[in-house]
Amino acid sequence: MLERIGPYEVTELLAAGGMAEIFVGKKTGPGGFEKPLVVKRIHKKLLGDREIEAMFVDEARVQALLDHPHIVQIYDFGEDRGSYFIAMEYIAGCTVRWVIDNANAVRRPIPVQHALRIAGDVLCGLHYAHERADDDGQPLRLIHRDISPVNVLVARSGQAKLCDFGVAKSELQRMMTRAGIVKGKFRYMSPEQLNAESLDRRADVFAVGCVLWEMLVGRRLFDTPSEDDVVNAIRAGVYPDPSDLRPAVPKAIDRILRRALHPNREKRYRNARDFHLAIEEALRQLPAASNSVLVGEYISAELDGTVAEYSSRTLKRPAPEPEALLASGFEMLDPPVPSAPTLISLPPQPAADADDTDSQSDDRPPPGTLGRLLGATLMAPAALFSGVGFAVEKLADLFARKKPEPAVRVTRTRQ
Ligand SMILES: Nc1ncnc2c1ncn2[C@@H]1O[C@H](COP(=O)(O)OP(=O)(O)O)[C@@H](O)[C@H]1O
Ligand SMILES: [Mg+2]
Repeated sequence: MLERIGPYEVTELLAAGGMAEIFVGKKTGPGGFEKPLVVKRIHKKLLGDREIEAMFVDEARVQALLDHPHIVQIYDFGEDRGSYFIAMEYIAGCTVRWVIDNANAVRRPIPVQHALRIAGDVLCGLHYAHERADDDGQPLRLIHRDISPVNVLVARSGQAKLCDFGVAKSELQRMMTRAGIVKGKFRYMSPEQLNAESLDRRADVFAVGCVLWEMLVGRRLFDTPSEDDVVNAIRAGVYPDPSDLRPAVPKAIDRILRRALHPNREKRYRNARDFHLAIEEALRQLPAASNSVLVGEYISAELDGTVAEYSSRTLKRPAPEPEALLASGFEMLDPPVPSAPTLISLPPQPAADADDTDSQSDDRPPPGTLGRLLGATLMAPAALFSGVGFAVEKLADLFARKKPEPAVRVTRTRQ
């Protein structure tokens, strides 16, 4: 046990961001009762900062109004030794950031149908939040404003849940943005958000589009080293279609994303609901099904089957040489033939374990050498485009691992 925060025992530090620390903890009770939960509190260094405190109170008040299977449920809000804390549902699983990084590290793209299902879940929760009204029926006009892969959790049970309403804006909110505090991650921001225009729910629609694009392709949608270039690309709406980089993605999904990511919000889906319905329609057209059972099996297999290798070795893998990737060229996108991708020499892969049996993975490479080459074939263009290779820099935000760990594990999240 690390310490007690309010009535909760906290056992592990999950993440420490700029403003808050997030712990895994539990509530205990008579007769051996134990309920795992997550406790989030303002970072000690910010104690006494009234503005931060007010933002944290707003976060708790907003989240308390939301009761939906695809939004992390808040349980409690309180004060302990001069610091506010939020207690909430513990999601045993991982973030979408981890799912993407893992897919890159093990050269197995996220199955298209599961990427769509996760995005569909998020949109379902989001639409509920957007529509939420107060007890008098007055719309709250809630906008999350910070949807990104670290703020979407995927439970082992297969449900995706939106978390972190820390910069959500609503009629409830008393705080305006404060200089020096980054409100949201700009690589997932809509053009209107970058332009500091007044926002509506379509900014969140755009951000979910960015996250879905990234899940499908395996790299950030707007991913150039220069921030100015990123901002210009977002404003201009310049980006490749997912199917350009991953042929397994149907053209219908390209069209959906073109609409969700339209730089002009008037041409975007007008709400999360319509975007969600389009995704459901696309899912019906796919040969492979997805639902929470299948997503849960996929996530659990990835967490259990590859994590040990991933954390100790895979992440230290060198990125393929850019020359080798360039030499391999975009023709590698074509259905691979055994002799084609020999330019890429890959280090040994983790055992292909449970994933081999996943018949739902339409574009998942089979085990063995050919499978590894196929994996490289699928991922190489993404690496080419970004120019940084597909090596993952670090394991961003893994949690719920079952293997022995140090008592305190600080897990820094990456945008
Ligand atoms: N309810 C939860 N269950 C499991 N992990 C969580 C939960 N809430 C947050 N986390 C983890 O902590 C990280 C940071 O939480 P978040 O609420 O987004 O804090 P911050 O405001 O610092 O971004 C998340 O990216 C995720 O890895
Ligand atoms: Mg966050």
